[in-house]
Amino acid sequence: MKNLKNKVAAITGAASGIGRALALNLTDEGCHVAISDINEAGLQETAEMVRARNKYVGISTHKVNTADRNQVKQYADDVVKAHGAVHIIINNAGVVLVETLEDSSYEDFEWLMGINLWGVVYGSKEFLPYLKKQDAAHIVNISSVNGIFTNPNNGPYCTAKFAVRGFTETLAQELAGTHVKVSCVHPGGIKTSIAANARFYKASDTSIKKEDAAALFTLAIAGTTADKAAKIIIAGIKKDKLRILVGPDAHVMDWMKRLFPVGFQKIAGRKTAPKWLKKRAGLKS
Ligand SMILES: NC(=O)c1ccc[n+]([C@@H]2O[C@H](COP(=O)([O-])OP(=O)(O)OC[C@H]3O[C@@H](n4cnc5c(N)ncnc54)[C@H](O)[C@@H]3O)[C@@H](O)[C@H]2O)c1
Repeated sequence: MKNLKNKVAAITGAASGIGRALALNLTDEGCHVAISDINEAGLQETAEMVRARNKYVGISTHKVNTADRNQVKQYADDVVKAHGAVHIIINNAGVVLVETLEDSSYEDFEWLMGINLWGVVYGSKEFLPYLKKQDAAHIVNISSVNGIFTNPNNGPYCTAKFAVRGFTETLAQELAGTHVKVSCVHPGGIKTSIAANARFYKASDTSIKKEDAAALFTLAIAGTTADKAAKIIIAGIKKDKLRILVGPDAHVMDWMKRLFPVGFQKIAGRKTAPKWLKKRAGLKS
């Protein structure tokens, strides 16, 4: 979809981070947005930011829990009622759970899968009938570099993100030759609130507390801003790219995994944060 002007994009998880940045950058292109989240206050804040920056685009806000199929179906209907059409769905909402697979409770595992996997499935399937009515449309599903390789204490997240990749790549094959293009997005570390918002348990790295883990993520791991991530994703949509890697770290890790499929899993599999990384974040090792 080369030109986003006067198109309508629905974005889930738009109260913060990448979703918010997507709303701001898409409206810079003249695209109208229908933003959703469970966090109503954050959603209104995003809407205010969009209105202050881009006066002439349409914006609607929708309180939607993406883990609830009926709410996502209603969202698709409401977006079309509000804007007359929808051309892009970005299934972006996501959460993190820090715990080993052995110790993750089923409740937490299901909570994460509900948002990170089922939210993507519902968003893709419920918007598809509307997207097929357009001459040009796009489904964008946010996976992660954890849809390419795994790491410990992050098993439910890796499970969901690998599944998002499988779902999205299959959907792309099935929709090939239609007007509905499909992208699977694999961000590396992006500076957002995702680590601070995580459900964090003891995990296997007992040397680190939740606050320290969030600081480690923000200061030493997340090298790309949400704004830059949004710009890369939008450039990928414009080029109809099936696979969108976000950030230099994502490119490096993708290559490492291709070159050393077993060896890289071992490196990524270390259970405690290395001293140099803690030092970079200003933490005591
Ligand atoms: N930040 C990173 O380093 C990174 C890396 C790879 C992938 N991602 C993915 O990018 C996406 C966006 O994450 P972010 O980094 O902007 O995080 P974020 O925490 O800033 O934003 C996530 C948003 O999702 C919303 N959300 C949570 N549960 C929801 C639910 N049930 N229904 C609707 N909305 C819900 C939150 O309220 C929040 O506004 C996620 O899918 C995440 O897994 C992020």
